[in-house]
Amino acid sequence: MEQNRRRFLQTSAGLALAASAPWVRAQPAPLKVGLMLPYTGTYAALGNAITNAFKLYVAEKGGKLAGRDIEYVVLDDESEPAKAVDNANRIVNRDKVDVLVGTVHSGVQAGMVKVARESGVLSIIPNAGFGAATGALCARNIFRTSFSNWQTIHALGKVMWDKGHKTAAWITHKYAAGEEMFGGFKEGYEKVGGRIVKDLWLPFPNVEFQALITEIAAAKPDAVACFFAGGAAVKFVKDYDAAGLKNKIPLYGNGFLTDGTLQAQGASAQGIYTTLHYADSLDIPKDKEFRLNYAKAYKLQPDVYAVQGYDAAQLLDIGLKAAKGDVKNQKAMVAAMEGVVIDSPRGKWKMSKAHNPIQDSYLRQVVGEQNKYVSVAWKALEDPARGCKMLV
Ligand code: BEZ
Repeated sequence: MEQNRRRFLQTSAGLALAASAPWVRAQPAPLKVGLMLPYTGTYAALGNAITNAFKLYVAEKGGKLAGRDIEYVVLDDESEPAKAVDNANRIVNRDKVDVLVGTVHSGVQAGMVKVARESGVLSIIPNAGFGAATGALCARNIFRTSFSNWQTIHALGKVMWDKGHKTAAWITHKYAAGEEMFGGFKEGYEKVGGRIVKDLWLPFPNVEFQALITEIAAAKPDAVACFFAGGAAVKFVKDYDAAGLKNKIPLYGNGFLTDGTLQAQGASAQGIYTTLHYADSLDIPKDKEFRLNYAKAYKLQPDVYAVQGYDAAQLLDIGLKAAKGDVKNQKAMVAAMEGVVIDSPRGKWKMSKAHNPIQDSYLRQVVGEQNKYVSVAWKALEDPARGCKMLV
């Protein structure tokens, strides 16, 4: 009996000693990364590409960032603005994610920004171009690895003007992103002398384009500029071609029109010029490596959405390393993420003071199943971040 008691005490003492020994560290709990993205509907492919590439980066780092295992909490936001605040509250306040990554749709992003500002959770936007996120509603805990809506289309007006198009019609979905992109296009196109003779809108995610395409034909502009992405971009490009307009009134857009969509668009997309911060044939070693690894992992070619998701994981890694894996040390994370230069497949880009990428805008043209790089349409384009108080 006494012997057993002694053995028990010895073992307990041994365990206690081991626990306090500096060379035996307790494993930190996994870091909870919330992925709030669309996995159904028009933008489902975009959400999947972001998720794939984020996970690819983590896998390349052995499944850990700054020594922390990663646990994903995944939520399908359905590109549904009406559910955005509830969904974001659920993932932040109920599931208690350490980091919030999302989303694609600007209207949903507005709800996420509200929750991020109220809760203070560290947030990384891997697509949605909602201007206020890095403008009037900018915040220390909100970062973006993609673009502002303005930024994706500002260079297009000059491109179209230089190709001799003095008038244009505009068409898009009627929601925050469509409206902001119209503003960006109008500003750039009118500045060089262009005139917008018609602007046409349909509710998101409606894809009944026929009546509006008829209106374009009747207006007889020199060219058309548009914003559509995902499933809507596939259908619009095909419908525009089927209506017989492709060779009569050239179609332009920001690159979402033809990114991740070319297989489905086929011949209808050939020759279309777009502007975007990524292209398929960039001569950048980082891009070549990324494309190879992505294709190996998913048997798919990556697109701009994948690049933005990959960079979201890179940015998080940089922040976490600076805080030695302690996400509660948000001050250290934010300091490291501000002003960072990301070695991206799109080319190196710098984080602006408003937490948005300063990046080149490329002119691309569809050739086969590629958005071929043509030229730099605008070097180091920076969103004006209107109303962002962090700029002062
Ligand atoms: C947006 O809603 O911000 C958006 C959606 C798809 C592609 C680009 C922007």
